[in-house]
Amino acid sequence: MGLTDRNSAIGVFDSGLGGLTAVRVLKKILPNEKIIYFGDTGRVPYGTRSPEIITKYALDDMNFLSSFGVKAVLIACGTVSSVATDALKKAFNIPIMGVVEASAKKACILTRNKHIALLATPATVKNASHKKYIDENYSGYSIMGTGCPMFVPLVENGYVSEDCKVTRIIADEYISTLKAFSPDCIILGCTHYPIISSIIRDSAKEILGTDVNIIDSGAEAAHEIKSFLEKENLLSDRKEGSVEYYVSDETYGFKAAASLFLGEQIENVTKIDIGLYHYEGKQ
Ligand code: DGL
Repeated sequence: MGLTDRNSAIGVFDSGLGGLTAVRVLKKILPNEKIIYFGDTGRVPYGTRSPEIITKYALDDMNFLSSFGVKAVLIACGTVSSVATDALKKAFNIPIMGVVEASAKKACILTRNKHIALLATPATVKNASHKKYIDENYSGYSIMGTGCPMFVPLVENGYVSEDCKVTRIIADEYISTLKAFSPDCIILGCTHYPIISSIIRDSAKEILGTDVNIIDSGAEAAHEIKSFLEKENLLSDRKEGSVEYYVSDETYGFKAAASLFLGEQIENVTKIDIGLYHYEGKQ
């Protein structure tokens, strides 16, 4: 299958459930595309690991998706986008898009006071890729990053309902760190976080005392990939789209959470051995 085949699938991956925040939007704006989703549920979380390990995992994930002859890949993971995009682009001859630029751009458009907060995994905050991108392309913006390591396990374990007290306490803890900075815009730099965006929004409203713009990184990146496919004349001409889901651990937890989040019953989830896709090439 050629890389430029318009009816090839779009590959999307994340460490777990977070990338579904991009899939939900892709299904809406590109309803005729075939999507292959991989959630590395056997090795989640990524965001508390070292850049070396994150890059190693991401290369395997890409290797798996590339076996489908995908026409483009959306890294629906803030951590991988921040830490490993360059390594992935070097290793694979496939158009690859991450979530950093799209969300940083959107934040610069929406903020009025030019104070942008980034809630993300510790690895993403440490990498400061949003700040680098904004500093290189805009001027006068301040970015403050807060690592939120507890959010991913809460989401992966289903603590996502709007009235979940546990997640709200943790959200209050993280949002409190932003009080003195007074952002009017918060980038959810980890794709897991939009799953609990109403809790984050309520917490921000109470603690910061105002309504802030909340940016969903996966959703922004989904719009970018659509523009890219349009520009390259790579939109599918299928009559109908589809999504195949693959995970690297048991499927039941993913199925239940994905069905809840996407608002439809997900059955076609396949467990794979990601070890078989270990990337051996040079980095
Ligand atoms: N959803 C991911 C991100 O956007 C990864 C979270 C994790 O595995 O720690 O950063």
